[in-house]
Amino acid sequence: MRKGYQATYDHWRRDPGAFWMDAAAALDWFEPPTVAFDPKPGVYGRWFPDAVCNTCHNALDRHVTEGRAAQPALIHDSPVTGETKTFSYAALLREVQAFALVLRDLGVKAGDRVILYMPMVPEAVIGMLACARVGAVHSVVFGGFAARELAARIDDAAPKVVLAASCGIEVNRVVAYKPLLDDALSLAQHRPQACVILGRERLAAGLTPDRDQDWGVLRERALSALDGGRPSPCARLAATDPLYILYTSGTTGRPKGIVRDNGGHMVALRWTMEAIYGVAPGETFWAASDVGWVVGHSYIVYGPLLQGCTTVLYEGKPVGTPDAGAFWRVAAEHGVRVLFTAPTAIRAIRKEDPEGRLLAHHDLSGLRALFIAGERADPETIRWAERLLGVPVIDHWWQTETGWAVAANPLGLERLPVKYGSSAVPMPGYVVQILGGDGRPVERGAMGSIALEMPLPPGAAVTLWNADDRFRESYLAAYPGFYNTGDAGSLDEDGYVWVMGRTDDVINVAGHRLSTALMEEAVASHPAVAECAVVGCQDALKGEVPCGLIVLKTGVSASPGTVAEEVVTLVRDRIGPVAALKRVVVVERLPKTRSGKILRSTIKRIADGETYTAPATIEDSSVLAEIERVLGPLPPQP
Ligand code: COA
Ligand code: AMP
Repeated sequence: MRKGYQATYDHWRRDPGAFWMDAAAALDWFEPPTVAFDPKPGVYGRWFPDAVCNTCHNALDRHVTEGRAAQPALIHDSPVTGETKTFSYAALLREVQAFALVLRDLGVKAGDRVILYMPMVPEAVIGMLACARVGAVHSVVFGGFAARELAARIDDAAPKVVLAASCGIEVNRVVAYKPLLDDALSLAQHRPQACVILGRERLAAGLTPDRDQDWGVLRERALSALDGGRPSPCARLAATDPLYILYTSGTTGRPKGIVRDNGGHMVALRWTMEAIYGVAPGETFWAASDVGWVVGHSYIVYGPLLQGCTTVLYEGKPVGTPDAGAFWRVAAEHGVRVLFTAPTAIRAIRKEDPEGRLLAHHDLSGLRALFIAGERADPETIRWAERLLGVPVIDHWWQTETGWAVAANPLGLERLPVKYGSSAVPMPGYVVQILGGDGRPVERGAMGSIALEMPLPPGAAVTLWNADDRFRESYLAAYPGFYNTGDAGSLDEDGYVWVMGRTDDVINVAGHRLSTALMEEAVASHPAVAECAVVGCQDALKGEVPCGLIVLKTGVSASPGTVAEEVVTLVRDRIGPVAALKRVVVVERLPKTRSGKILRSTIKRIADGETYTAPATIEDSSVLAEIERVLGPLPPQP
């Protein structure tokens, strides 16, 4: 009999090892684990330390063997090209087997890194799974990042091969990836041995001699070899071997390479499909995100395929491709049972179609739930979606680091009462504590830093790529015995988690996690800028948007407006369009403490039109009047 939430959580607390060993039994192993967790190796211990496995085998081969060969595994729905293509499990396995041969022939071995810089095309998923098959460590870089950011990731991961496409297709333009890749490789110190370029119909890309190979040519060759009987086996990997690196923003401009292992990751993700999302093998699950983000890794690629579901890869937007009914069309056409997206996507749909008229054309009777994450969900958006869809709308909270939800309403176990504004209760694997400045738990209901008792569960980050010490400093040093999430919030009397915002320089723009420190580095590199501050300001659509304040160097002859425009362009060129820094204003001075620290939180409060008190440590409070004049209208409170 299925246990409810509390019984499941209690079972885990009583015996975490037994709990995760049970979950591990749902997967195939070359050598099954005999122990769940060893606290000695790695930064904080490792899950399934003596097991041998392969994630790709569990995502594809296992299902083909078990009778799912003809079931759709992947549906690529692309309104930007007008095409929809379905791959059965057998077809996807064949493509992945072939591409694994391509990688092997390029010299890629277990442990080598492969970077993917690709749009939402099936080849991105095929490339990821082929890496998993040969044991190579993939690192997908989101297409909205520019050359310099790609270069930073190339230098950190030192890939043997880079996989890229000729272009991505946005609503308003075609983004040529090849020139961005060329620029990145000219900026990077590291040289990959080869780049494999997927030419797309919308934009052909010339190949750089002695470096680039054509995806289509290599694929054809490998398919012939496969048909001729060449085997493409799954590598036998230690469960603790890395599956992927995913870079995410931190408090500094330097991205953090989150490392995920093979064994713990597949165990945890399959379990979440059943327990959190309540999706059975054979059903269709759709995460409307991008393979460049953690949601795409966990819930477009690995989670659904590990569970034997059909997953949807949607190359489009919630609005504009062609309209705000796009999500409802995709969900209806492909029989989606559970949909997952970011609140910003729902806000975008609501803005264009507040009455939900476009839903009327589609039969969503098969949809059971909408899950949302990636940023704080405003209760109004949740209520609107609930009314419109007539299904539970579940806010759940997690991060790139955790890989799956820390707090959720686990529909697969039990539907708990919804509290609007809360992401519900901690999942098995996580003990959530709210800590005060002294590192002690605060009283129930009080705000503090959200911390998780160590060790982290299977599927969470095991370290940062080549940077164990940075992992310890970033996450484990602040509160001994705890992982510091970087989020602030509270726990209420029913144990519900309320996430209120970040405690660091990370902002969430349209569900995309970005670092204001990185943006400040880019802004400060403009020759006319003496100092700057970038803060996240509230935005009705995107949740937050960055806003920059700059002080010009003395003697700058260009007009403030011109410099501000140049700064906007500079950030777009350096970091990428995803940074979305569109508002930059020139001020005489920045508000600072007497010790010279810029008062970013006060700037943010002013920009958000909130009341604020000038901090006692402020160097010169008159400067706030100017900030208010340029940014917001509210007077300070006494
Ligand atoms: N490749 C190249 N450029 C990209 C890109 C990609 N993969 N993804 C986004 N961009 C560009 C966009 O074209 C846009 O450029 P512009 O300034 O020229 O218009 C810029 O980056 C900002 O993109 P975005 O933040 O997506 O804003 P938008 O205005 O294009 O769309 C939403 C707004 C709400 C429709 C969109 O953000 C959305 O669908 N969000 C869903 C959230 C989501 O998927 N989050 C992932 C975590 S769950
Ligand atoms: P990312 O690593 O891109 O998934 O971003 C993780 C961050 O997004 C978290 O640390 C939170 O700040 C924020 N976040 C994610 N989900 C939620 C949620 N449901 N509610 C509030 N904030 C969220």
